Amino acid sequence: MTNEKKSAANTFTITDNSNGKSWDLPVIDGTVGPRVVDIRKFYSDTGCFTYDPGFTSTGSCSSKITYIDGDAGVLLHRGYPIEQLAENCDFLEVAFLLLFGNLPNADELKQFNHDITYHSMLHEQIQRFYSGFRRDAHPMAVSCGVVGALSAFYHDSLDFTDPYQRIVAETRLIAKMPTIVSWAYKYSIGQPFTYPRNDLSYAGNFLQMLFSVPCEPYRVSPVLTKAMNRILILHADHEQNASTSTVRLAGSSGANPFACIAAGIASLWGPSHGGANEAVLNMLMQIGSKDRVGEYVKRAKDKDDPFRLMGFGHRVYKNYDPRAKIMQQTCREVFDELGVHNEPLLQIAMELERIALEDDYFIEKKLYPNVDFYSGIIFRAMGIPTSMFTALFALARTTGWVAQWLEMIDDPEMKIGRPRQLYTGATQRDYVPLDKR
Ligand code: SDX
Repeated sequence: MTNEKKSAANTFTITDNSNGKSWDLPVIDGTVGPRVVDIRKFYSDTGCFTYDPGFTSTGSCSSKITYIDGDAGVLLHRGYPIEQLAENCDFLEVAFLLLFGNLPNADELKQFNHDITYHSMLHEQIQRFYSGFRRDAHPMAVSCGVVGALSAFYHDSLDFTDPYQRIVAETRLIAKMPTIVSWAYKYSIGQPFTYPRNDLSYAGNFLQMLFSVPCEPYRVSPVLTKAMNRILILHADHEQNASTSTVRLAGSSGANPFACIAAGIASLWGPSHGGANEAVLNMLMQIGSKDRVGEYVKRAKDKDDPFRLMGFGHRVYKNYDPRAKIMQQTCREVFDELGVHNEPLLQIAMELERIALEDDYFIEKKLYPNVDFYSGIIFRAMGIPTSMFTALFALARTTGWVAQWLEMIDDPEMKIGRPRQLYTGATQRDYVPLDKR
């Protein structure tokens, strides 16, 4: 164990009541948060596996990057509250913090900005990857395909055992995701690919690559840039969520960084995870009006009805997702800027939130709005199509995935991830020839 304190006084004693045998399991304290019971020798000592589908009670790794207190609604990145980072930082400041552990000083930030800016272009040949897709391909399918294909292109940054190649891969992934994602959008609408502009911020550059056309100058709105910057920060990292765990598991086999991030994109796509922002918009459009909200809340509570309120609930937050509160504020700022106060979908969302927060079912199950509840409404107001919402999430989360991947490959305790199982299938039996079945 590296920095974590192994509390000598702390052990859990377990007893196998079938034979009276007992074992003391060491307990490890982190710097904050629940203690962990070290069960690495559990199988070799007891002959039993532990069982935890969905890993609701399992810590898969030790990490210094992000801390979440789900009951208190707290989210810290390297110790800094998300509220302060979202309010005060440029996205690349937070990216530097996640990657290297501290907020950058002026020189460090200038150099990091330069490195990311001057890696944001894609090789012209990579444009051909896009022409292999249908125009109506989902942007997550395109992003997953293109990012995975980068490993067929950048042979000089695949070997993560080489510190130089690691940094090049990390820089390329963070720098090129805005270009990759915006090109997926441009391709889908038949507009020419736009090139990055080195005079713009990470968020502003992404907006101009999404919306500028060669026919006229594009004015980057400072309010929309500020909103996009904040949204990218809110989505940058979130501890060991499904997609981050996917990246770590892929990386534990030694897979190259581009393949690992492509795996993360695939996992994020699911509607229970990053795909929820797209699902929220589709749900709000399905509800259609404020006066039908009650009907859908009733359906969400009905055990026999598969309908769930997208954008509500969270595996970890049993309080308000702190990111959702900031998103709600950002939503209001964007609508003020765009003069769309009476946007019907926002009215439906606000009514849905009001009813759900007063409803015993949601209170009892601690189902609060999560980060995805408002993001889709903001993106739609900014003119971003619903199908692009999760790709924007993937763009932001690439920084967290890369930071977690770097931390894992530097971890002296890193091993290939290889969970076991509770086997409930057939015991051994002999083959039966076809004419005897
Ligand atoms: C993200 O892990 C992360 O950090 C993810 C994320 C990140 O930044 O990486 O925060 C991003 O993925 C946010 C979550 C986005 N997903 C959604 O909004 C989809 C809707 N939410 C649910 O599918 C659900 O809440 C999950 C998947 C998010 C969490 O599910 P859990 O923790 O496994 O909880 P559960 O499914 O066991 O639900 C607990 C109870 C169940 O009722 P009971 O079986 O106990 O009677 O709550 C109910 C569920 O039926 N429930 C809901 C509900 N979510 C849970 N009921 C109605 N509507 C919902 N949205």
